[in-house]
Amino acid sequence: MKKIYGIIGDPVAHSLSPVMHNAAFEKLGMDAVYLAFRVSKDELEDAVRGAKSLGISGLNVTIPLKEKALFFVDAEEVAKKIGAINTIDFSSGTPIGYNTDGIGAKKVLEETVGEIKRKRVLILGAGGAARAISFYLDAEGARVTIANRTKERAAQLASNLHNAKSIGLSAEFKKHIKDSDILINATSVGMHPDEDATLVNADMMHPDLVVFDIVYNPMETKLLREAKRAGVKKIVDGVKMLVYQGAASFRIWTKEEPPVEVMEKVVRDALIRD
Ligand code: ATR
Repeated sequence: MKKIYGIIGDPVAHSLSPVMHNAAFEKLGMDAVYLAFRVSKDELEDAVRGAKSLGISGLNVTIPLKEKALFFVDAEEVAKKIGAINTIDFSSGTPIGYNTDGIGAKKVLEETVGEIKRKRVLILGAGGAARAISFYLDAEGARVTIANRTKERAAQLASNLHNAKSIGLSAEFKKHIKDSDILINATSVGMHPDEDATLVNADMMHPDLVVFDIVYNPMETKLLREAKRAGVKKIVDGVKMLVYQGAASFRIWTKEEPPVEVMEKVVRDALIRD
């Protein structure tokens, strides 16, 4: 029987996960389909129960449901620490929750710089995305600094990590960028439709800095354009992270190796068409 997967969130209509996972199913000849379901926070519990009753095999969870969804699943330890899930697997009968966002970011960085251990990483933001990424990089032994507009949120996140500092977005922030190996934008700044917004400009960067933006729409954000202007050699857009978190969910659900090149291509094509 055809297996059904999907993504729940609100809004969810513009999610690229359906195109990405359906391309993977097609490539592997799997009898499966991936759909987008708009679910409000109030309906979340019913949606998870209903998905289980209907025999849905797996779900991704997106904004604004990632934190609340923890209450309706058995979550893996790291997802509990992060405080959010983006993946539910129903194959064992009980809904099991995972967070693959941080795995995606870690893999992107490993491909870009090799070993992450001891690298000085400056993460912009202290929301859900920053939490997921910082937990994985901290666990790898990176020296993480969390920089956030609301400094208290940065301090709170850093206090839950092994080897992390926190700062605000003021004067000390500029100096920190100069002393960093990797800069990650884990905020929504620069995302469509605010495409001219960036928290960091070219004059704050150095050419050996790796600049990684988790925003993928637009693919080339203002931050990445500024990095180009600064002569930065390693610039990474958000598409790969989207693909790798999806690939990690795919492995959990299907136990198959996903065709990541196909997934990346359909996502890039869809973003160019947009
Ligand atoms: P997500 O779960 O997607 O990470 P979130 O929890 O709402 O979303 O967090 C958004 C992050 O982007 C926060 O770190 C937020 O900073 P605050 O904690 O100070 O709110 C950051 N952010 C959003 N808009 C911003 C802006 N215009 N300038 C600076 N930081 C911004």
